[in-house]
Amino acid sequence: MKDRSNDNIQRAFTGEAKAYFRLRAFAKKAEEEGYPQIAALFRAISEAEKVHAEKHFALLEKVKSTEENLKDSFEKESFVNEVTYPEFLQQAWAEEEHAAIRALTLARNAEERHAKFYKAALTHMIADREVTYLVCPNCGWVEESARPETCPNCQGSGANYIPVE
Ligand SMILES: [Fe+2]
Ligand SMILES: [Fe+2]
Repeated sequence: MKDRSNDNIQRAFTGEAKAYFRLRAFAKKAEEEGYPQIAALFRAISEAEKVHAEKHFALLEKVKSTEENLKDSFEKESFVNEVTYPEFLQQAWAEEEHAAIRALTLARNAEERHAKFYKAALTHMIADREVTYLVCPNCGWVEESARPETCPNCQGSGANYIPVE
């Protein structure tokens, strides 16, 4: 694709992906406020934005072989936990934004963990391992097979972990 269109598709992808999450949050709020029909509308449009995001992303041709995708994901996770989040954390500390410090710390720790999983997956690509991953719904920490009593990252209950196959 030519540069200008490629940039626009990239921006469209980002916009649609953000809209997906924004609308899901709006749906949750509508649910809490007792408007189930409006919640359903927000959820429906969020699903539609997801369709757009997926189509735009496909056009960007960023999906490679699984080995390349693992390498790329490992590099991105490493970069965010070694560079991006530490920078954001420094600024959050400077501004004494405690909620941001906590959110960024939990995310940075989880990203480091994600990178480890990608690295292990790259090493074990050939070996057939049967693993159920469990994800902390509060902080994004990932465990393999065993459900912890409490999340080692956010100290939330391990009972809330979501199994992903
Ligand atoms: Fe991550
Ligand atoms: Fe957690």
